[in-house]
Amino acid sequence: MKKLISLILTVTMALTLLVGCQSTATTTTTKAGDATAAATTAAAAAATTAAAADGSIQVGVVLPTKDEPRWIQDQEKFEAILTDAGFTNQVMFSQGSSDTEKKNVETLITKGIKVLVICANDASAAAATVEAAKDAGITVICYDRLITGTDAVDYYVTFDSITVGAEMGKYLVDNATGTGNSLYLYAGAATDNNAFLFFQGAWEVLQPKIADGTFVIRNSAEAVAVQDTLELTRDQIATIIGQITTDWDMSVAKSKAEANLTAAAAADKGDCFILAPNDGTARSIADVFAADPDVTSYLITGQDAEISSVQYVIDGKQSMTVFKDTRTLASDAVAMAVSILGGETPATDAAYNNGTVDVPSKQTSVVVVTKDNVQSALIDSGYYDATEFTGLG
Ligand code: BGC
Repeated sequence: MKKLISLILTVTMALTLLVGCQSTATTTTTKAGDATAAATTAAAAAATTAAAADGSIQVGVVLPTKDEPRWIQDQEKFEAILTDAGFTNQVMFSQGSSDTEKKNVETLITKGIKVLVICANDASAAAATVEAAKDAGITVICYDRLITGTDAVDYYVTFDSITVGAEMGKYLVDNATGTGNSLYLYAGAATDNNAFLFFQGAWEVLQPKIADGTFVIRNSAEAVAVQDTLELTRDQIATIIGQITTDWDMSVAKSKAEANLTAAAAADKGDCFILAPNDGTARSIADVFAADPDVTSYLITGQDAEISSVQYVIDGKQSMTVFKDTRTLASDAVAMAVSILGGETPATDAAYNNGTVDVPSKQTSVVVVTKDNVQSALIDSGYYDATEFTGLG
């Protein structure tokens, strides 16, 4: 049976040739200013003028929630880049509700958007929502999270999510010595396809080190049941996620970590290695482990480079975060909108299967941040101001 989600790296000569020219013009930019420059094409300018005349909105952006700093970062980048590029635009939040997400998209449809950029609350529930947009003649770009089970997705702009998970796994592996180290596994929401990719990436790095005895899984019987298997099926990953999910929720993460440590014998704590799926959940879980007298030390992963977590990293309370530069992702999405509104085919460099179709995708790399490179990765790059933090350098 065809795997539901299989990442197909675009290595074929044909596609390379097809997109080769365009990709240098419109892809990886690390500064909002560069993206704006890339976006200011004659085609976009023409489209902008046409839409401004009738007061409609050209590009609608729908993000999952205001309650996580990650998505506020994206909102800020979108508003700046879209406005600089001369697009009429609106960014809306779904607040963790697929119903609100649907209403937001309906609102944007009535406002005449030509391009919808959507980061879904729930991968499969969003299928019907984007089908309505597609029926209205709108081009649909999935942003960061892939919508599954529909052919109404035109493009996908994403970080390399398998690598995000792999970097987390690698951090834990690189910092483990000896055998019998306690491994605690946590995952994102089962409704988010990324949770599967992150876990898959981490598992494929961790599994050989579980098999050779470096790590012992302490909190998931479902993971233990498949610990000799390197390549898990989607169903196997779903079963594990069912046990270790945080739902991307800090309080769920906290309760789950508390329950795990309560259930564990003192000997199953000691030096702990913790796979935490993102920064918010990492801080919650880290606080629980830090408070347990039977935990001698802990290392914990994260992602998003949220300000609070970067401070945790500086303070030694979170070990690493995977920095996903939202400037690049937003500018990639805007560059796609420029191409689409200009009647061109956007440049892509990968394809993700969403269970129904292979979605042409633009993929962006990520950067591991530890105490050692906060300054160069996040301050010198202009992402954050040093005044946001204490104890830097
Ligand atoms: C994103 C992460 C984010 C998580 C929770 C994922 O889909 O890729 O960056 O932390 O959702 O919102």
